[in-house]
Amino acid sequence: MSGSRLLGTGSALPAQVVTNDDLAARVDTSDEWIIERTGIRQRYIAGEGETTATLATAAARAALADAGVDASSIGLIVLATATPDNTFPATATKVQAALGCNGGVAFDVAAVCSGFLYALATADSLLRTGMAKRALVIGAETFSRILDWEDRTTCVLFGDGAGAVVLEAPEAGASDDPSGPGIIATRLHADGAQHDLLYVDGGPSTTQTVGHVRMKGREVFRHAVVNLADVLQEVIEEAGVSVSDVDWVVPHQANARILDATARKLGIAPEKVIVTVHEHANTSAASVPLALDVARKDGRIKSGDLVMLEAMGGGFTWGASLIRL
Ligand code: UT7
Repeated sequence: MSGSRLLGTGSALPAQVVTNDDLAARVDTSDEWIIERTGIRQRYIAGEGETTATLATAAARAALADAGVDASSIGLIVLATATPDNTFPATATKVQAALGCNGGVAFDVAAVCSGFLYALATADSLLRTGMAKRALVIGAETFSRILDWEDRTTCVLFGDGAGAVVLEAPEAGASDDPSGPGIIATRLHADGAQHDLLYVDGGPSTTQTVGHVRMKGREVFRHAVVNLADVLQEVIEEAGVSVSDVDWVVPHQANARILDATARKLGIAPEKVIVTVHEHANTSAASVPLALDVARKDGRIKSGDLVMLEAMGGGFTWGASLIRL
């Protein structure tokens, strides 16, 4: 049976833009270094009153409006974040309260930069069981609040933001014809042995602090290209399509060089890859739904297109999902 259908997308960004030159005034870096090594030109940083929940709620409202459905029809909210408003309750429950659709299922998933892929797969699975008819799947982050602003190797890489999609359960008896709308195939992975390459050095049960992002960037880069190419290949095989059938790839936006290297490895034309890292930087779990929304709203991704979503992040975790819009 084919998977849940995507009815609409939305996104939200904080008001404040921070350029590479702004950062060069604070740490020993330069616009040239950041652009050459990452493609990033600017990022959005949350200000006073902006939190993961407020960004998530704004993205969710935009997705509901795009889908043309009312919040009261949402029975499930799955929110991917590594930067929740509070240790508990889940930020998803704050979004639920803000939207006024209380009573259904609402929880967060933690898979860092792959969080949206994990959330999408979880929501799709629950919708297929009949747990709810419609879901909001959200990726939302305020990574600026867990950055070490003295560490030039990480603080230049990340930004804040949120993206959301509305999913609807597949109709009973829907065929698994990949030309019909819906999630066609998804694959998720994790490798806990790689914890020390990308992690936060704090937490409630260890230091009783929030902690800061720590990353061995060069090693993460190397793993990212291999893992992403492998999981994309797995999903393509599982779906029974070929690389050339894929209309668009919407990758996690960590580094323009990772996007190029992964596309080259698989023989994907660079013009089929949606790139927003120059404008948003790495927004962790928000980056895939944010980029998807940008490319739908600017008219590149259209109804009927075959779209591959993919991400890799701390854990390590990684995954990919093929969707017919
Ligand atoms: O979202 C989760 C997944 N995350 C990722 O996928 C990130 C993957 N990694 C990367 O994107 C890249 O490895 C980085 C952008 C983090 C770094 O690029 P790189 O080409 O791998 O640089 P590097 O870490 O090898 O550093 C090269 C040099 C070093 O100096 P030395 O040792 O060669 O003298 C760094 O100290 O660049 C230096 N450097 C900087 N210089 C200016 C590191 N950060 C900066 C900086 N400004 N911000």
